[in-house]
Amino acid sequence: MAFCPVTTQRVDPHSQGSTGPELRVVRPRRAPPAEAARVTRAEVNLAHVRHNLRELQACLQADAEAGPRAQAAAVWCVLKADAYGHGAAAVATTLERAGVAGLCVALLEEGMELRNAGVSCPVLVMGGYWGRHRDGVEALLENNLTPVVYDEQQIETLAATARYLYSGQRRQVDVHLKIDTGMGRLGVREEQLGGVLGALRAAPELRVAGLMTHLACADAESLAETNEQLARFEHTTKLVRRAGFTPSLRHAANSAALLRTPRTHFDLVRPGIAVFGVHPCPASPGEAARIPNLKPVMRVLSEVVALRDLPAGEALGYGHAWRAERPSRIATLPMGYADGLSRALFNRGQVNGEQANRGQVLICGKRVPVVGNVSMDLTMVDVTDIPGVSVLDEVVVLGEQRGRLGEDAISADALAAWSDTVSWECLTSVSRRVPRFYRHP
Ligand SMILES: Cc1ncc(COP(=O)(O)O)c(C=O)c1O
Repeated sequence: MAFCPVTTQRVDPHSQGSTGPELRVVRPRRAPPAEAARVTRAEVNLAHVRHNLRELQACLQADAEAGPRAQAAAVWCVLKADAYGHGAAAVATTLERAGVAGLCVALLEEGMELRNAGVSCPVLVMGGYWGRHRDGVEALLENNLTPVVYDEQQIETLAATARYLYSGQRRQVDVHLKIDTGMGRLGVREEQLGGVLGALRAAPELRVAGLMTHLACADAESLAETNEQLARFEHTTKLVRRAGFTPSLRHAANSAALLRTPRTHFDLVRPGIAVFGVHPCPASPGEAARIPNLKPVMRVLSEVVALRDLPAGEALGYGHAWRAERPSRIATLPMGYADGLSRALFNRGQVNGEQANRGQVLICGKRVPVVGNVSMDLTMVDVTDIPGVSVLDEVVVLGEQRGRLGEDAISADALAAWSDTVSWECLTSVSRRVPRFYRHP
């Protein structure tokens, strides 16, 4: 990844056009795989991205046909954090060609990256923080990104910048108003709604095109909290409409909500993890939505770069945290925690008096345990039970492998369970020094 500094002029909308010192917006750029020499890499299957989009659209269509809705909700895929680590530009252009209605990101920089990649569909910037200076707001508008708003200051700055940029034009900027119905992160709370609606009324440069909320517990066993949030969202919608606003796009659903209950679908849905082939939660019996056949998009691979035979009793790795209980064959992979392989994959704890090795990788189609502490660039695995392992053998850290001894797969969920986290973190942790190779079968 290289950083490409782009210079923009700072503009103070209150100063009738005077410009201040130059500020810089930094746009991240990923090193193309062709420049990558290392054997550790991620394969991203773009055909599976298209497949997963179609599966989600089919679920929405089925739910619409089964219920009172006139038409299925649109899909606006969430591609924040470099499309959950898969590479935002490639995933976005694939989704756009496959007919996605819109895309969502967290950051201004992420939205700009999509525009620079030639994406022309609506892009919602959900974070709502564009830096302390107005050049961020300008960049937002110049790139035709749709901001999410939730406080008065933000609304005033946006309106003033729009007034400055589009003076003399009858042009309105679409915004989505975010309501905090129980997530407690971003969004207007009901007691602040009067002030925010007042600021919007005083800003004819802005048009409230969308009304959104985010669900905190859509993947929980019980949907009680989700129902509570939905009730608050309906109530707030009435208040917003009563104040004269007519948002035509209401939205609340992440992947779990989309799959679990059509009540969350409204006009559009915002799936992230499901687009990348990971089920957000186990399906509960009796839930309306059918379970789609999602296909994992990312495989993470490496190779054996060294082999050694350790006698029983010899220790290895930082802190000598693992000691061979039998004569052992150890393979070294050129992938470590700086690549996204969590140190939690090796657990020094004892279970029933035995060393508990949590993490596993695939070699020759068989699982082998991670041994010793994962280091920054390297990881060791015990291949004693895999006959004939040699240097250059493929190692799969995430995804499936068909090898001479069988076939198996390591899911993002398994990796997450071994490292005490969630699959979202496993995917987004695959770092920028792991080159992405795209497959378009
Ligand atoms: C506001 C918002 N909407 C939608 C999503 C997508 O969530 P998921 O990846 O669970 O589908 C996220 C992700 O965290 C989010 O922050």
